[in-house]
Amino acid sequence: MSGADLADEARALVADGVARIGAAPTSDDVRAVESELLGKRSRLSELKAGMRDLDPDDRKVLGAALHETRATLEAAVADRVAELAAVERRAQLAAERLDLTESLGRASAGHVHLVTQTWERLEDVFVGMGFTVATGPEVETDWFNFEALNLPPSHPARSLWDTLYLDTSELEGVGPQQLLLRTHTSPVQVRTMLRAVRDGSGPPIYVVCPGRTYRQDTADATHLPVFHQIEMLVIDRGITMGDLSGTIETFTKAYFGQELTSRLRPSYFPFTEPSAEVDISQPDGSWLEVGGCGMVHPNVLRACGLDPEEWSGFAFGFGIERLAKIRHHLTDIRDLITNDMRFLEQF
Ligand code: DAH
Repeated sequence: MSGADLADEARALVADGVARIGAAPTSDDVRAVESELLGKRSRLSELKAGMRDLDPDDRKVLGAALHETRATLEAAVADRVAELAAVERRAQLAAERLDLTESLGRASAGHVHLVTQTWERLEDVFVGMGFTVATGPEVETDWFNFEALNLPPSHPARSLWDTLYLDTSELEGVGPQQLLLRTHTSPVQVRTMLRAVRDGSGPPIYVVCPGRTYRQDTADATHLPVFHQIEMLVIDRGITMGDLSGTIETFTKAYFGQELTSRLRPSYFPFTEPSAEVDISQPDGSWLEVGGCGMVHPNVLRACGLDPEEWSGFAFGFGIERLAKIRHHLTDIRDLITNDMRFLEQF
C-alpha cells in the first residue's frame, strides 16, 4: 500500500474515534477508548510502526496524517474529559446543595419567653384592677434595699436575704457593702413613696413593681439566684388587712381562674406589721407559697416622709417564676433558664 492510502486509512480513524470518545459516558470509559485508539496496540500505533518500511516520501505523507489524526483524537479526549468533569461536578453540587430558603421557611420566628409572658400577663391583670406600673434599678444602695424598709445595719433579719454586694473598694466615698444587687423588689416601694411625696402626686398610691432580683443562692427545683418578683404597694387612708386579703384573692381568681383560691399565713417581715405568707390552693388540695405580704410598717412610712397617723397601706411581693410554676404546672423552675427548646416551645 502506498503512503497516501495508509494516510487515508489513518484519517479515516478520526470520525469513528471522535464519535466513540464523545459517546463515552464516564471519564473511565474515555480512558478505555483512548487506550484502544491511541495506545501501543492501536491501529494508529501499528501504522506508525509500519512507517519504517516505507520510502521517505511515503513516510512523510503518512507521518503527517498520523500526527494530525493523533492530535485530533487527543483533543477529543481532553474535551470529553473536561465535559464529563463539569457534569460530574454539577451533579455533586446538586447532591450536596443546602436549600437555605427551605430551612428558612421551616425555622420558627420564636416567641416571648415564659417568664416575660408571665410578667406581661401579671401587669395586665393589675392594670385591669386599676394599678399603675413602677420600676427601679437592679443595683441598689443598702438604704433602699434594707434600711428604709425598717432593716437597720445590724438587724438580724438581714440574714433572710443572701445578698450579693458589689465590690466598691475602688469607688471613692462608697463604703463596703453599700452597693448591692437588689434582693427583692421592695426598694421600689420606697422609691415610689419618696417620689410621690416629692412631686406631690400621692398618696393615694396604687402601684405594682415587677423586676429582676438577685440572691446568693444555689439553683434548685424551687430557687434561682437570679429571679423576678412583682411587688404591690397601696397607700391610702383607712386601708385595712381586709383590703389586703381581698386584693390578693381578686388577683388569684383573675390570674389563675375561679377554681383557685388564696390564704394568708402569719409570718414575719421587718417592713410589714402584721405580716403574712401568701399560699395559693392546688387542685389536689395542697398549698403553694408565692410570696409575702402585710400592712406597711409605720417606720417604713416615716422613712418615706409619710405620717403613719394619716396614711396606711399594704404591700406584697410575689415570685414571678413561682406564679408561672403554679399556673403552668412546672416541676423544676430551672427549666426556665436552661434554654431547652423542647421545654420553651410548650408555652
Ligand atoms: N420582699 C420580700 C421578699 O422578697 C417579700 C415581701 C414580703 C414583699 C412582704 C412585701 C411584703 O411587699 O409586704 O422576701
